[in-house]
Amino acid sequence: MQGLFITFEGIDGAGKSTHIAALAQAFQAQGRVVTMSREPGGTPLAEQLRDMVLTQPMDAMTEALLVFAARREHVLQVIEPALARGEVVLCDRFTDSSFAYQGAGRGFDWGILSQLECWVHGTTLQPNLTIWFDLPAVIAAKRLVASREPDKFESESQAFFEKVRSGYAQRAKDAPKRFVAINAHQSPSDVWLDVLACVRDKGFLP
Ligand code: TYD
Repeated sequence: MQGLFITFEGIDGAGKSTHIAALAQAFQAQGRVVTMSREPGGTPLAEQLRDMVLTQPMDAMTEALLVFAARREHVLQVIEPALARGEVVLCDRFTDSSFAYQGAGRGFDWGILSQLECWVHGTTLQPNLTIWFDLPAVIAAKRLVASREPDKFESESQAFFEKVRSGYAQRAKDAPKRFVAINAHQSPSDVWLDVLACVRDKGFLP
């Protein structure tokens, strides 16, 4: 079995989580072993870095360096070994989040982010598919208010999240074969049908 790496992206409040779990079940039903993970995080050290990034105010470059440091650990300890075993790796966020949040959201230098991407995983490791849950920031904000106490990013303005969204649009434009945009402003059951359809279109599920 070939390893398969699928990442899930979108602004806070886009509603990725339940669909990641459902997709894991769909792959398991086909006899595949699934590793589910998230970024920042996925290893004990990377989870500590996540805690810092999500709770403490910091300079945009510091933030970028920390998310990529966490990613380096995650790639080496979790993602690459799982892919080498032929597993399906489903990851809640990956490098596109750094371009969207630190790049487009915070205005941090896109070229430096590309350099960090090169150092940390280069072109040898890229997702086979990135599912982008897209919706307007105003809708996502309404969902977040209803759900829970906001963390550092979730407390950002709608204008910030529209910038993050434009960062995803840029990444999608730069990698059209890898990216699939899904309309996340639909009922959960309709979003799920779109998720399944794009995974089937790629030939990853029957
Ligand atoms: P999120 O994935 O939304 O998890 P939860 O649902 O538990 O809140 O939270 C991770 C946050 O980290 C999210 O707001 C985006 C941010 N982030 C970055 O800013 N840069 C990155 O490179 C990554 C991976 C995440």
